[in-house]
Amino acid sequence: MANFHLPKDFIWGVATSAQQIEGAADRDGRGESIWDRFAAVPGNVEDGSRPDATCRHYDLWHEDVQRLRWLGVGGYRFSTSWSRVMPTGSGAPNVTGLDFYDRLVDALRAADIEPFLTLNHWDMPQALQERGGWPSRDTCAAFAQYAAAVCERLGDRVRYWVTHNEPWCVATLGHAEGVHAPGLRDPRAALQAGHHLLLSHGLATEAIRSRAPDAQVGIVTIVSPAHPASTSEADRDAVQQFDGLFHRWYLDPLLRGRYPEDALRDHVRRGHLESVDPPFVRSGDLDRIRVPLDYLGVNYYSRTVVAAGPEGHPRAVRAAPREELTEMGWEVYPPGLTEALERITCDYGDLPLYITENGAAFVDPAASAGRISDPRRVAYLREHLIAAQRAIARGVPLRGYFAWSLLDNFEWSHGFTKRFGLFGVDFATGERIPKESADWYRDTVAAGAVVNGAET
Ligand code: FCB
Repeated sequence: MANFHLPKDFIWGVATSAQQIEGAADRDGRGESIWDRFAAVPGNVEDGSRPDATCRHYDLWHEDVQRLRWLGVGGYRFSTSWSRVMPTGSGAPNVTGLDFYDRLVDALRAADIEPFLTLNHWDMPQALQERGGWPSRDTCAAFAQYAAAVCERLGDRVRYWVTHNEPWCVATLGHAEGVHAPGLRDPRAALQAGHHLLLSHGLATEAIRSRAPDAQVGIVTIVSPAHPASTSEADRDAVQQFDGLFHRWYLDPLLRGRYPEDALRDHVRRGHLESVDPPFVRSGDLDRIRVPLDYLGVNYYSRTVVAAGPEGHPRAVRAAPREELTEMGWEVYPPGLTEALERITCDYGDLPLYITENGAAFVDPAASAGRISDPRRVAYLREHLIAAQRAIARGVPLRGYFAWSLLDNFEWSHGFTKRFGLFGVDFATGERIPKESADWYRDTVAAGAVVNGAET
């Protein structure tokens, strides 16, 4: 692929999210978010840190836009904080909160950087949680109202919209496993939450399109190709189950207008649903969920090796030696990215795709001469970009790539212990320190491809 070039309109970008970088949790009328509340409970966040102590992007946004400029990226994926825009979850939006994003979008436009705006990157207003949160159907209307408020203000300058980031994580990690906000361990509530996330995606899409007819609206899912731990039938069956619960549970309603039958049966078998006809899926819901997408965003970090656990339920197992794992314990497995992209195109058709997140946490050494040396992150990004290029060469309509992340940030239940940034952050002072990966990404963006990549 020495002479390989990506499509001319390919968007090179970086991604962040509001709760992970902004700080300023109680400034200018922002309301409490479910993550502020969850992180305040001892034991929920590994290092006991609070999201409010993060990178201070709310104050330093202007210099962060200069960093984007320096990187030469054509796109910036960020999220608006739901609790900054709708502090109590309903009623009139907080104008001062919207002003912040207004200034940011203007600065991005002035720098020729396309804003990719995510509405829900997990930071629901706590007030809405208290009224039932995602398991409650009323939250769908509240989300559409929030989408409308953001679109009224920014729809003339923002073209690319993401409704939700990784609904699987919100539903399962937040409502069944209790490791993300709001910290519930109730598999039935998780299924309702998942359905309402999907339904609200449909409603928000309508709200955006009616206000900004040229908008490109999509949703972001996490993908992780599942491979069996052995050739046993039980492990291969567990892979099917994993795929149904993790990928198809979201992709099938969105792109085919139905929940996958095998996964419905799995939920019944586990006692999470009474029947394959769940009462919370009302007539007309699936048509609203299947509203045509302009594109699909995929976040890729690793594959999942699956074995049959108790009662044949899928269980993720570690398959790689320690040196092939990132600090998250996730295996470095670039071919999984090509596989995931090809699979979506093959099973769901020629929908434009964006890699909306891809990156790695490693332990970085202290800065020396104003730079942080992070060769493993460079290798990770390089190998994954080659895997993305390979997918394009094989016909996948991939339109862009966003590295996660611009800055080290608040990594959810891991607090500040996991660092994904192209720029290191000193959380005590807010100082940003470029890593070698930032230099490398800048050169790659300028070159328009990873040159001398592997053969297709
Ligand atoms: C993704 C999240 C993102 C970040 C990365 C590491 O699942 O969307 O906010 O935490 O993982």
